[in-house]
Amino acid sequence: MAARLMAYGAGARPARSRPAGLNEAMSGDEQQAFRAALEDLRVWDSGLAGFDPEDVPDLPMVLFQRWFVEAAASGQVEPHAMTLATVDGEGRPDVRTLLLHDADERGWHFASHATSAKGGQLAARPWAALGFYWPTPGRQVRVRGAVSALGEEESRADLAVRSTGALAAALTGRQSEVLGSAEELARASQAAWERARSEPDAAVPTWTRYVLAADEVEFFQGDDRRRHVRLRYRRADPATTGGWSRELLWP
Ligand SMILES: Cc1cc2nc3c(=O)[nH]c(=O)nc-3n(C[C@H](O)[C@H](O)[C@H](O)COP(=O)(O)O)c2cc1C
Repeated sequence: MAARLMAYGAGARPARSRPAGLNEAMSGDEQQAFRAALEDLRVWDSGLAGFDPEDVPDLPMVLFQRWFVEAAASGQVEPHAMTLATVDGEGRPDVRTLLLHDADERGWHFASHATSAKGGQLAARPWAALGFYWPTPGRQVRVRGAVSALGEEESRADLAVRSTGALAAALTGRQSEVLGSAEELARASQAAWERARSEPDAAVPTWTRYVLAADEVEFFQGDDRRRHVRLRYRRADPATTGGWSRELLWP
């Protein structure tokens, strides 16, 4: 595996089968290397966490927080990185990675520019889905629900507790706009870093904290015999336990 990847070090790239400038064809070597790398990969083969779906809390948020803490303790890298799916004006899905900023009784919190592609999509269609995948314990969590933009105060507080780099990135702005050149970004970023250092509480009017209030949360525990456990919580009649119903799903 390592040897195969090494073969793609500087200067070792296989020659293209077609001249540059023409519609670039896939190189057979690269296709082969890709498939070999893909075939070498395994999932759910050892050291997975266990999960008893009978022994769970009434609220999905409580289980999410428990699983999150366990994922971090298991050595899972960046368990707070999650996938956010939104829908555009034509009903076409879009997806990207974001960091989870909090999770509480209101829901799952994240932050971004209201003027970004996702910001526009959420303003027009305020529903989204989140996906967490934690390969170390072999777990996945899916969350669906309505998204609200929180007010200016919480949006400002979101940046206030973060690093200079996070503030500089937010101050750079123009997220999702077409970039003319790398130099243009370097200039804007340099100015943003200088401002972030000299003005650590600088306001970024487009920076927005959002919260997704779930109406559906699914917990998936991978199993080496492929008897994966899927437990779905759905917001139900308030008369039922904790306002949520639970059901198992076929894997
Ligand atoms: C690990 C990781 C974390 C990220 N966290 C955020 C984030 O918290 N907020 C954000 O706006 N973009 C974040 N991004 C960048 C987004 O994935 C995305 O490129 C950006 O928000 C523009 O998305 P959009 O064009 O769909 O609006 C992150 C990217 C990665 C890879």
